[in-house]
Amino acid sequence: MENLDLYSKVEHLLGIKESTAYLHTLYTELLYNYDIKTLLDLGCGRGELMQTFAKFDIECEGIDLSALMVQKARANGLKVEHKSICEVDKQYDAIVSVFDVLNFVHPDELHDFLDCVHASLKEEGIFVFDVNTLHGFRNVAEGTMMAEEDNLFLCVDALYNDNKLDTKFTLFSQAEDGSYMKEQETITQYFHSLQVFKKLKNFKVVQSAYLNLYDKKDKALIVLIKA
Ligand SMILES: C[S@@+](CC[C@H](N)C(=O)[O-])C[C@H]1O[C@@H](n2cnc3c(N)ncnc32)[C@H](O)[C@@H]1O
Repeated sequence: MENLDLYSKVEHLLGIKESTAYLHTLYTELLYNYDIKTLLDLGCGRGELMQTFAKFDIECEGIDLSALMVQKARANGLKVEHKSICEVDKQYDAIVSVFDVLNFVHPDELHDFLDCVHASLKEEGIFVFDVNTLHGFRNVAEGTMMAEEDNLFLCVDALYNDNKLDTKFTLFSQAEDGSYMKEQETITQYFHSLQVFKKLKNFKVVQSAYLNLYDKKDKALIVLIKA
C-alpha cells in the first residue's frame, strides 16, 4: 500500500525508537512464558522484533503490507513477505502484531482479519497485539509535529474524529540541485474497543492490560488464545 510506504520512509523521523524498543522488550518477556517454536510477525515493519526472537531459536517469519518495509526487513536477512494475513497458508504457535498494527484495520474488515489470524494459528496458538485506547488516540496521538534530517523535512498532522485518527504525512526531500520533491499521504487508524475482542467466539481473551507508552493507559496489550 502506497500510504504505508510513505510511513516506512518517515518512520525514523518520528522519534519512536525508544517506545518501539520498550514494546519489543514487553512482547519478548511475555512470549517467554509460552512454549513458542514458530512465530509470525504480522505487520513486522523492518523486522526488529524478529531479530530478537531469532536469538531465542524461535523460527520467525514476517509479513507486511508495505513493500518498502518488506524490502528493508529482507535487507536484514529476515524471512518476510509482502502479503496479507489472509494469504498465509501456514500455521504458527504464535502471531504478534506490534505497535498499533490492528488500528490500521477498518472495523468492517476486523472480523475477517481475525478469522484469518485464527486460521494461521495452531491449536491453542496465541495472538498478541496492542491497540490504542480512546485516551491514546484523543489525547496522545492527535496533534502536529515536524522533524528534519539531512535532506528530509517532515510535517505530521493527526486529527481524531468519529472513532478514527487521520494522520497526514507531508515529506519534502531536497535533491542535489536544491529543488524539493513533495510526497503526501494520509493514514487512517481506527479505534477498536476491548469488547470487540471479548465477544469473539473463536478466541478467548487470556490477558488484557493497559500500557503506559507516552501517557497513562494510552495503549492496551491483548493476548487471545485460539478456542
Ligand atoms: C507502526 S508500524 C509497526 C511495525 C513493527 N511491528 C514494529 O514493532 O516496529 C505498523 C506496521 O504495520 C503494517 N501494516 C498495517 N496494516 C497491516 C496489515 N493489515 N497487514 C500487514 N501489515 C500491516 C505497516 O505497513 C507497518 O509496517
